[in-house]
Amino acid sequence: MKGLVLSGGKGTRLRPLTFTTAKQLIPVANRPILSYVFDHLRDGGVREVAVIISPETGEEVKAFLGDGSAWQMKVDYIVQDRPGGLAHAVKLARPWLGDSPFVMYLGDNLLQEGIEEASAEFSAEKADAVIMLKRVANPSSFGVAVLDEAGNAVRLVEKPKDPPSDLALIGVYLFSPRIHEAIEGIRPSARGELEITDAIQRLLDTGGRVRTRVVEGWWLDTGKKDDLLNANYTVLDAWTRRELAGEVTGSDIDGRVSVGAGARVIRSTVRGPAVIGRDTVIENSFIGPYTSVGDNCRVTNSAVEHSVILERSTIRDVERIEDSLVGRDVTICSQTGKHKAIRVLLSDSSEVEL
Ligand code: G1P
Repeated sequence: MKGLVLSGGKGTRLRPLTFTTAKQLIPVANRPILSYVFDHLRDGGVREVAVIISPETGEEVKAFLGDGSAWQMKVDYIVQDRPGGLAHAVKLARPWLGDSPFVMYLGDNLLQEGIEEASAEFSAEKADAVIMLKRVANPSSFGVAVLDEAGNAVRLVEKPKDPPSDLALIGVYLFSPRIHEAIEGIRPSARGELEITDAIQRLLDTGGRVRTRVVEGWWLDTGKKDDLLNANYTVLDAWTRRELAGEVTGSDIDGRVSVGAGARVIRSTVRGPAVIGRDTVIENSFIGPYTSVGDNCRVTNSAVEHSVILERSTIRDVERIEDSLVGRDVTICSQTGKHKAIRVLLSDSSEVEL
């Protein structure tokens, strides 16, 4: 089975972080979201992947994934020059896909469960599609499926005002080559995109067999600040192991803490689950649970808890930072002396709570 990973778009909802980074490359527990997607594809036996990229962020995605050898895969890239919809992306990839069955995976989705169960269902049932679903509280924000008692999809609707079920399409789909014919039969939706949801409905209308897999584990939307903190919390909790590759001097490291190679923790306390990136220095500080500090950061005389700090940032003499998302190359420090004022240099779309 081939893989098709969608990693385009502009990521406007995560600004300002996505002014400089593709949303699929935002790190969760210090690893870009795309790395978890590729882990799942590799573990599901996929060896050849095409990645759909946008002109805006494509180069960065390419630089990160390279030729795919880090996952023992072969990776090719296809540029989608406008956000034409998920079915439009499949259309672009048609020559690359040929007549192979494939799994399509949205690159900003973070799931606990891999694709093994869905893949087994796809082969055993000789289905034309297997769609992964999750019960959600806000089905109107997603594609929604209605099932029969045997777990076959009978109807699909994209972002319905009046949702016929609470089962949302979570952005992982397995397809037989029949999906291409179905895509040829649909027209752009009200938002002007070729919707994969409409193509799957078309597949049903033309006698295709669409099976479903309802996942019980977590599915994380990483689209907004609080979602990202929540994703970081969930992934640290589920997947962090104690791994002390760096140097630890005069410090307490409690529980599941990963300290990257070249990092130094000096006269500090780090309480897991937490990750400290490569070549980062933590000195005279407290790093509380559910915190990810990226590579090449410096935290001195400060306390940080339940936060995400991205690469090359500095935190100095700050009493306590909580529930925060700090971008790359940021400096946060407190002042000394009598004249206390707040001095800031903030980029567009920043948020500060004082
Ligand atoms: C897309 C799909 C939708 C699906 C969602 C999952 O929505 O169109 O059916 O439920 O991904 O994340 P979009 O993110 O394009 O609004």
